[in-house]
Amino acid sequence: MKSVSLGVMAGMLLFCSVPAFAQTHPASAPSAATAPVISSDGKLYADFGGHDGLVALMDDFMVILLADPRTKDFFVAVDQTRVKVELVSQFCQILGGGCTYTGKDMKTVHAKLGVHQADFLALVEDLQIAMDRKHIPFRAQNQLLAALAPQHRDVVTEP
Ligand code: HEM
Repeated sequence: MKSVSLGVMAGMLLFCSVPAFAQTHPASAPSAATAPVISSDGKLYADFGGHDGLVALMDDFMVILLADPRTKDFFVAVDQTRVKVELVSQFCQILGGGCTYTGKDMKTVHAKLGVHQADFLALVEDLQIAMDRKHIPFRAQNQLLAALAPQHRDVVTEP
């Protein structure tokens, strides 16, 4: 319980500090088409359980998104299997698992979804819940969230 609320707070902090983050870490402010590799020694990827761990994490994440009234309408009618596959490929790339993201660029994918900042925050919270349930170390969670935070510029289209 403690780690969930701490995780949510960390996510809010990251989300709210995105402009400062982008300014002070220009090399880590990509569009998702060029999502940064934030670790190259394989340890961070291992913290997530490698490929099988990421697949299991995305399975749980999607279940949580579909159960969350704040996010379910976005995901209920899409090809959830494809979204999960692309999330695995993107997160694998970011975490240094040696993958290359195979999906569409983030701006194009999310352009017509009408995502608000609150929706983005809800999704981050749900990802944190999924990561906590998988007992992914808190520090590893925050490293992933820090890499994802700048993507809000490509995902959030509504005030
Ligand atoms: C850092 C945050 C996010 C990341 C990394 C992310 C990543 C992705 C990826 C990799 C895909 C699949 C791309 C493809 O099909 O080629 C996708 C699709 C999608 N995302 Fe996101 N996303 C994020 C935020 C959000 C938010 C906040 C929402 C809405 C609450 C959202 C809703 C969707 C939906 C509905 C699709 C499926 C679109 C379709 O198939 O037509 N995403 N996202």
